[in-house]
Parts: sequence; structure tokens; C-alpha cells
Amino acid sequence: MTVDTQSNPLPHLAGFSERGGKWYAEDVSLASLAEQYGTPLYIYSKRAITEAYQAYDRACVDAAGKRRARIHFAMKSNSNLAVLDCLRRLGAGFDLVSGGELARALAIGAEPSSLVFAGVGKSATEITAALKAGVKCINVESIPELHQINRIASQQGCRAPISLRVNPDVDAQTHPYISTGLKDNKFGIAYHEVLKTYREAALLSHIDVVGIDCHIGSQITSIAPYLDAVDKVLDLVVHLKKEGVVIHHLDLGGGLGISYGAETPPDITEFTNALLNHVAKRGFAHLDVVLEPGRSLVGNAGVLLTRVEYLKPGAEKNFCIVDAAMTELMRPALYEAYHAIVPIQTKELSHQTYDVVGPVCESGDWLGRDRALAIAEGDYLAILSAGAYGFVMSSNYNTRPRPAEIMVDGDKAYVIRDRENVSDLFAGERTLP
Ligand code: LLP
Repeated sequence: MTVDTQSNPLPHLAGFSERGGKWYAEDVSLASLAEQYGTPLYIYSKRAITEAYQAYDRACVDAAGKRRARIHFAMKSNSNLAVLDCLRRLGAGFDLVSGGELARALAIGAEPSSLVFAGVGKSATEITAALKAGVKCINVESIPELHQINRIASQQGCRAPISLRVNPDVDAQTHPYISTGLKDNKFGIAYHEVLKTYREAALLSHIDVVGIDCHIGSQITSIAPYLDAVDKVLDLVVHLKKEGVVIHHLDLGGGLGISYGAETPPDITEFTNALLNHVAKRGFAHLDVVLEPGRSLVGNAGVLLTRVEYLKPGAEKNFCIVDAAMTELMRPALYEAYHAIVPIQTKELSHQTYDVVGPVCESGDWLGRDRALAIAEGDYLAILSAGAYGFVMSSNYNTRPRPAEIMVDGDKAYVIRDRENVSDLFAGERTLP
């Protein structure tokens, strides 16, 4: 992850740019959006999402025009209906991890056959809903869950298409909180138990084995750990074939990192080609490959706009207190994640070094540290690379209404989620008689 320093370069942003000292989302100035819709405010660029999707899609089709992989957007990274619908129209399927995400996917008219359902603790209600909807595959994360799915499918009088999520014990070299493929992580079925579990699954009355799955982590910036994981998963497919268990699809998860500043991850097409060529080289070109990217599709397609409330000089540090907080963007507080922060209008002021912090009553409530900014109270700042794991991880802590979300398409801006009202936040609460 990028370390928080002033000298980081800005990330490459397809949908946002600075022109003549002013920042724009496509052709709409961020200042006009801040004035019209208020702050804090999430803004996404449709063009940036489209270009990222198309970069994946280009690599998913081979030179002869044959599709060799499908993209199932990991909607946990950004589940706004407009974002999902934009990706659905481009041809994406979805990777879901809850009954709530299933409901969102169905609400935008996603084909159930384009949905894969993952997650380490699916409830009986969620499994029932997924089977009723007719999802393409349920990714199983434990042996008791496999039996639970079989039981529910039998009650429903249907068969459950499943894959097992393999824990390949590969180090993704990312932040420990978002590493998922090590043997001490809670995810997936231990590598040495996978073959045995497939044998068991093949004997269950209401289970159809259709695939195999793995996901080693998120914000991964090199290809090598993926190739290690692919090799380990393909070794299992070879064994399974010998035993008569046929695997139709290979789900390689998501995880490709983006540049928040200093990182230099492989680009989407290069990454996808490397992965798919490796699968083909090992003789598995006939398998349908499923990829579940989240961050690399939407991370750099969104910014969080915030207003400078107060500049507070201190003995040790200067604080820039803004109207966004860990409630809107949790990543710095949770992972010490770096997000570039820029004033949306350049000013002839001297630079000062600030910690950019929110108004929430926690010292962990910071958005950027030691940032050199030429700003005055009332100015607006854009926190960049906030399109993934931004709004979706927001909360109402301190009874703060969550912000509005806007999608820009060319010179048009659409409100894709209204700002919450304070009264909405306690509308479902009751005092005792
Ligand atoms: N598939 C599975 C099974 C996953 O667990 C995840 C992410 C993805 C796909 C998508 O990964 P991506 O392409 O977005 O890296 N909140 C953290 C990230 C958590 C990722 C969890 N799993 C953050 O803000 O960095």
C-alpha cells in the first residue's frame, strides 16, 4: 500500500482531470457539483467505469473472437444500483456476498445465471434466496456449509450448483486485513481437504459440482502470487478429473490492485492476459474462467468531495478539519490507507502541512496525514480513488447522515442516491412506553 507522504504522485484517473486549475469529473466541474448538491458527496465517472470494464473485456476474448473469461463485478466494492446497471449493460455478471447484494442484483435485472454467490457465513435464508433465484454457482467455504446447502436444496426440490473455495495458502503480499488466501485466514477450504470435500460433494443428493474457486486477497500489485494460486488450483483440477469429478469453470476471484499514488500494479489487460494465457498454457483453455474484480473496475472511478470547515494550527500539527470523516471513508482509519487529496480549485496561497481530519470523536478519524495544501476555510477538497470500498463501508456513527452519490456522464450529472436526512436515521427507533 502507498505510504502516506506528500511526495506521492497522483493516481491515473480516467474520468477526473485538472484543467486550468479546476478539477472536473468528465466535463462537469467538481465545484459546480459541490455547490449544487452539498458535501460530503461521492462522485463517480461513468466513462472511467466503462473504460476499466472494456480493458478487462478486451483480454477476455481471444484473437479468434472466442470468449475465454467472464467478468463478475465484486459488488461489495460499490453496490449503488446505477453503478451495477452500468456494468450490467456492458455485459458484466456479479459476485455477491449477501442476501442484500442478491436483492440489489435482481433489482437491476441481472440474469440469475450471471451471479456467483460467495461469502464465508451464508445464512439459511440467504442460501434459500440464492437457490430460488437460480444463481450460476454458490461458492462453498466450509464442509458444514456444503451440507447445509444440500439440505436446503433438497427441501426446495432443486439441485445446488456449487464450487469449493480453495484456500491455496499463497501470500498475496497485501495488507493483512485484506489477505484471504493464507492458511490462517478464515476463508475457503484448507488445501489438503479440498479433494476429500469434492469427493464428499459429488455423493450428495442435491449438489451439482460445477466449478472451483479461489481468491487470495485484495489490492494485489503483482501477478506472481496469482499464478502460484492458479497453479495450485489447476493441480487439484487434474486430480479431480482422474477421479471422475468434472469441473466446468474456474473462478479466480478478484484482487487486482490500483494505484492510489505510488503503487505500480499491472494494467488490467496485461494482468488478465497473463492469467488467461497461463491457464491456456497449462492445457485448460476449455474451462470457463470467472474473474471477480471490484476495486480495479471502480476504485479510480470515484472521488469523495469534502469542504474545509476549519483550519486549526497546533503546537505539533496543523489540522484541516473537513466535513467528511471515517463515516464516509473508512479506509484510512481501518487500514491506514493512503488516498491522494487535492483542492478542487488552485489558489494563490502558500502551502501548509496539515493532517486532514473529520469531525468524528475518534483520533483514528483522519483522511490524510502530513499533506501540503494551499487552502482556506470554505474550500473544497477531492479525496481521490474513493470509488471502491468507499460509500459501501460508510456508517451513521455520530448520527451522521450518509452522503449523496452522483454519477457523471459527459456533461451531465445524475443523483444516483439521495443524501440521507437525520430524521431517517432514527425513524425505526422507539422509546419505551
Ligand atoms: N472476490 C472475493 C471472494 C472477495 O472476497 C473480494 C474482495 C473480491 C472478489 C474483490 O476484490 P477486489 O478486486 O475488489 O480486490 N475493504 C477492503 C477490501 C476488501 C476486499 C474483500 N474481498 C479495502 O477497502 O481495501
